[in-house]
Amino acid sequence: MKALVCSVCGYVHLQDTAPEKCPVCGAPSKVFNLKEDGLKTKTDIVTAGESEKKHLPFITVETKNCCGQQPCHEIRAKIGEITHPMTPEHSILRIVFYADKNFIGYTSLTPSLNPVGAICVTNIENKKISVVALCNIHGSWLSEL
Ligand SMILES: [Fe+2]
Repeated sequence: MKALVCSVCGYVHLQDTAPEKCPVCGAPSKVFNLKEDGLKTKTDIVTAGESEKKHLPFITVETKNCCGQQPCHEIRAKIGEITHPMTPEHSILRIVFYADKNFIGYTSLTPSLNPVGAICVTNIENKKISVVALCNIHGSWLSEL
């Protein structure tokens, strides 16, 4: 599906207009381009094969009390029903988290890690959680809770 993508770092913006600056790399709004295939979703699985099963984020949210702010919520995303490879040639680079389509944070990965990311936040009750996984070869993949 169409999405606004930062041409510097590959961050995908889930809203209709580009942000003032990229929340990941800080580049100005002018570097955002509306890309025809900027984001792939579960519906793309119908027309695709095994590779997609390795890219969709599986999201869980667990309410905790770990940060001294009650309550806090750990949003966790594992990438792929079949676990995505993590090699220098092919890996998940970043997992980005959104609440009501607003950026809330991200995890950067290196090939020595497993394709899992998590953040801990407050004030996400009743908000729609979205996660985008960025693969260096296969682009960005969206799941929503
Ligand atoms: Fe991939």
